[in-house]
Amino acid sequence: MTDILRQLEDRRDLARAGGGARRVAAQHAKGKLTARERIELLLDEGSFEEFDMFVRHRCTDFGMDEDRPAGDGVVTGWGTINGRMVYVFSQDFTVFGGSLSETHAQKICKIMDMALQNGAPVIGMNDSGGARIQEGVASLAGYAEVFQRNIMASGVVPQISLIMGPCAGGAVYSPAMTDFIFMVKDTSYMFVTGPDVVKTVTNEVVTAEELGGAATHTKKSSVADGAFDNDVEALAETRRLFDFLPLSNRDRAPTRPFFDDVSRVEPSLDTLVPDNPNQPYDMHELIRKIADEADFFEIQKDFAANIITGFIRIEGQSVGVVANQPMVLAGCLDIDSSRKAARFVRFCDAFEIPILTLVDVPGFLPGTGQEYGGVIKHGAKLLFAYGEATVPKVTVITRKAYGGAYDVMASKHLRGDFNYAWPTAQIAVMGAKGATEILYRAELADKDKIAQRTKEYEDRFANPFVAAEKGFIDEVIMPQSTRRRVARAFASLRTKKLTNPWKKHDNIPL
Ligand code: HXC
Repeated sequence: MTDILRQLEDRRDLARAGGGARRVAAQHAKGKLTARERIELLLDEGSFEEFDMFVRHRCTDFGMDEDRPAGDGVVTGWGTINGRMVYVFSQDFTVFGGSLSETHAQKICKIMDMALQNGAPVIGMNDSGGARIQEGVASLAGYAEVFQRNIMASGVVPQISLIMGPCAGGAVYSPAMTDFIFMVKDTSYMFVTGPDVVKTVTNEVVTAEELGGAATHTKKSSVADGAFDNDVEALAETRRLFDFLPLSNRDRAPTRPFFDDVSRVEPSLDTLVPDNPNQPYDMHELIRKIADEADFFEIQKDFAANIITGFIRIEGQSVGVVANQPMVLAGCLDIDSSRKAARFVRFCDAFEIPILTLVDVPGFLPGTGQEYGGVIKHGAKLLFAYGEATVPKVTVITRKAYGGAYDVMASKHLRGDFNYAWPTAQIAVMGAKGATEILYRAELADKDKIAQRTKEYEDRFANPFVAAEKGFIDEVIMPQSTRRRVARAFASLRTKKLTNPWKKHDNIPL
């Protein structure tokens, strides 16, 4: 019996050793942790339960039958993050470069099936040379099996991808279909075709980092939602995000203890909006002053910074925030910001996370670049996302809410539950200057007359009261009381029930 037990431990030790000490040292030398070290940091201490530690590949080509390491390049299982269940897979670059074989894929599929069945999120740590070259089409089939599960799990359980090494070729499409992608700076990259193929086909010379590193995907392509300095930070921040999310669409996001007075008054907010309507201010300040303990987890902070998206808690409950940022492009909507915010709104709606919208938007960005790029279709995404969302929606207009952008930003007409405005709000079809130039074109040469007309327009429309008279704004609130008003609004909406008409699925403009 002792022998049998020892044999089990020996087999486990062999599996845990992955590709061996030399390859582990090489992994560390690159500044990367091993697959198991990553799981240990991600999960609560001692909570990891492993599946399929002894699975081996079945390939016999290219002498592969001589080399069949236990585990086959991916560590899978489940554990907890702050006591809440999560399924994980972590690719082991020390075993065949973390490449995906038929059995490697089966291991990932097994935990994804369990996650879907039991209603818990999946976090994947990607560090892989792609398809296991020796296995050919069996590997491609394995990817497709994973893709299909990503699709089925979308909107049912949260899926998070951490890119912690190479992720290339068709392999990128599994992370691409998950809810959030985080990358590690300098050690991770994602691309469909690598620098060599790019050079051959297009003659462009580009490094892997330039083509698909963390900076590229967080600032240019928006494929990734955040970048972190190293594995440890990426894993710690993933734990932080996880705490904002429900386990599944059948569950509610957890309520965390909070130590912040819900009626906290913030007199500084009364002067947040500058006297000059063209002067910017930082919308982050308002977000932090509304949030419990000023805690804000920002999503896609380096992309389309004219709109801010992320999670806060109010009275311990998760709230998704979408806010125009007057400091970037005056907070206008454009293709990138519409796409960014639409995806975020849809995530929140899928997982029953209420949405707070903070509005200071002068309209859509004009220009051929925008029109040729399809701003009509992309802007419609955000409009569509807000309109279909059935979660509690609370909106606060701090300053400008002009034109179509007024409608889009969770207006009353898109089933906003509480639509508040600060006294500094200006809700109008457009700014005073543009409006007078159209209405009084014949008087344009007369500067005094135009100034007078502009003043008249401002007096009439540069306020929240025209909209409030019509009931489009439920209440004009004191800026200093925003946290209390928003908290009470969300508290009153905890029993909200709203469903959309039955349909197979919608046809959001993609
Ligand atoms: C089998 C692989 C492998 C792969 C790496 N290895 N990639 N084995 N299949 N795809 C093995 C190497 O042979 C090596 O084994 C070990 O992993 C580490 O690889 P190195 O090359 O030494 O590491 P490094 O220098 O860091 O380079 C990493 C790399 C490179 C850039 C990822 O390995 C590479 O280019 N690999 C091939 C990438 C590729 O073309 N993949 C297929 C893409 S097609 P030893 O024994 O020496 O440690 C694809 C399609 C998916 O993925 C489609 C889905 C729909």
